[in-house]
Amino acid sequence: MTAPLIDPFARPITYLRVSVTDRCDFRCTYCMAEHMTFLPKADLLTLEELDRLCSAFVGLGVEKLRITGGEPLVRKGIMAFFRSMSRHLASGALKELTLTTNGSQLRKYAAELADCGVRRVNVSLDTLDDARFAAITRWGRLPQVLDGIAAAQEVGLRVKINAVALKGFNEDEQFSLTEWCAQQGHDLTWIEVMPMGDMGEEARLDQYWPLSDVRARYAQRFTVTDLAERTGGPARYVRLEETGQKIGFITPLTHNFCESCNRVRLTCTGELYMCLGQEDMADLRAPLRASADDAVLVAAIRDAIARKPKGHDFDYSRQRVVGQVSRHMSHTGG
Ligand code: 5AD
Ligand code: SF4
Repeated sequence: MTAPLIDPFARPITYLRVSVTDRCDFRCTYCMAEHMTFLPKADLLTLEELDRLCSAFVGLGVEKLRITGGEPLVRKGIMAFFRSMSRHLASGALKELTLTTNGSQLRKYAAELADCGVRRVNVSLDTLDDARFAAITRWGRLPQVLDGIAAAQEVGLRVKINAVALKGFNEDEQFSLTEWCAQQGHDLTWIEVMPMGDMGEEARLDQYWPLSDVRARYAQRFTVTDLAERTGGPARYVRLEETGQKIGFITPLTHNFCESCNRVRLTCTGELYMCLGQEDMADLRAPLRASADDAVLVAAIRDAIARKPKGHDFDYSRQRVVGQVSRHMSHTGG
């Protein structure tokens, strides 16, 4: 019952990303419509159910848990969940407990997160300009996020900034954002905009700023060294030799990374997505609720992993959005 999870392509599944809510206090234009219909609360897994599910995965060899959303820190009672997951860090079963956040609630929760054993946070931040920030997030305000990031640093959390590369939006901030991260001691990763949700095809292609271009611009100014290090995810890293900074690139579109994929994603309703770029999923809520005995749940998890596909089909190269999936990022988790 406790044999590790290995998928049909011999990839060990050691990383679970868990979306704990589809809600968010921001409305980033590439992520959500302004007037989103959110899931009825009754459809959500309770925090106790999320605990049981995550614990089952940890029992099956998952070593890294990333809590996402929506915005995970807007879920009521979420700190009790972090507190509870920290027992798996204490036991040594879990090596890392982390989260991806928009930063808006970090001032409130950073100390408690650190106390629960969280060591790093990923904060989404695409621009350092107040007006642009308000425009892209619609409801977000930059000073609140910068203050949240400062709070995280004050309690010793490492911060990684995730910036979505958007043509005509933050192209001119590539170096100022990079420099700010260097000054503040944050890692920086650029993310290529992905064909998720219901944004029109035309708008999507308009916004597409390939990271090969971001990299080329770095190379004009710095000595750029490719780093071999991989995290089993889509990120590749380079070092800017002049500053020593490590920069990540998440390029689901220009670079296929599926061969080393080590992860699956759980939604807040208990759907397990074996691949971000495919529609196939397994419902784990039914087996979870069907029996208090974890054997049923574990069998469902194993069945799901046995269906993990080889890879995704995103492709912009023909100037069409191919392989678009209809889910929003806030549904599967970023
Ligand atoms: N393409 C790329 N990144 C996205 N995110 C949300 N929607 C998209 C998209 N369509 C990012 C957020 C954040 C992470 C959770 O996912 O900016 O960094
Ligand atoms: Fe919220 Fe993140 Fe989506 Fe922006 S990208 S709306 S912060 S979940």
